[in-house]
Amino acid sequence: MQITPLTGALGAEIQGIDLKSLDSETSRQIEHAFAEYLVLVFRDQDLTPADLMTLTHHFGGPGETPYLEGLPDYPDVVPVIKEAKEKSQHSFGAGWHTDFTFQEHPPARTLLYAVDTPPTGGDTLYANQYDAYDALSEGMKSSLDGLMAIHSAVRSYGPKATLKDHMEHMTITNDAKEPQTRLHPVVRRHPVTDKPALWVNPTYTIRFKDMTEEESNTLLHYLNALIISPSHTCRVKWRPGTLTMWDNRCTQHCATSDYRGHRREMWRTTTAGEIPSAYTKDC
Ligand code: SIN
Repeated sequence: MQITPLTGALGAEIQGIDLKSLDSETSRQIEHAFAEYLVLVFRDQDLTPADLMTLTHHFGGPGETPYLEGLPDYPDVVPVIKEAKEKSQHSFGAGWHTDFTFQEHPPARTLLYAVDTPPTGGDTLYANQYDAYDALSEGMKSSLDGLMAIHSAVRSYGPKATLKDHMEHMTITNDAKEPQTRLHPVVRRHPVTDKPALWVNPTYTIRFKDMTEEESNTLLHYLNALIISPSHTCRVKWRPGTLTMWDNRCTQHCATSDYRGHRREMWRTTTAGEIPSAYTKDC
């Protein structure tokens, strides 16, 4: 197995692996690389939805997939599709986010498999939330210690959300009522590495606990901008047969909508995660 880092911040391409025949030593090496690089890109895989589900079980088992309709025989495999003729300039996932952080048990990982890709564009960007935490001053780290944030699906899947209107070939169901909110730590301890990650995102983090949205906005804006500053990011270029797996416990990602007139189809699954736990600086 050869590993080629994508940038100094995160991400690596893994060569020499067939994901359909993983032995225990290879799986151990993948887990080791995953903890180090956070985003792993496997090229030239030939996967069916059933194979993707087998991999999803291998990497922790499926999480709960709300709002998005999956393939008829594989409800946990969500087709992320944009047809060449679609007029909207938006595409699914085209705002920085971490998957489903509005859940009590947000997904640990996401697996995204490229079925059909535009000749150029349609890349996915990733950002390292450990590096963002490390970039903070000691004073700011202390201020964030113990702070909780409120996450909600309201902007994407609430009664007034318009995301579904832009996705002509995906079936998205909005909540009829205001979605539930979840409280998660702003600084999250990663359950495998024990490292602190600055765990907010602009799509689902609404405000800090015990503060108004207005009071929270300036600091959230600063933290989200820090997370995606270029030195914390990498870019994955897709081609059919690429499978990328990322860690939602320490990264954000963002799809790019720069391939008008071309088709893109991906299959996506998420794996079950734990209730996020807080990192405390002094323990
Ligand atoms: C997602 O955000 O889950 C999809 C990302 C992509 O299609 O690149």
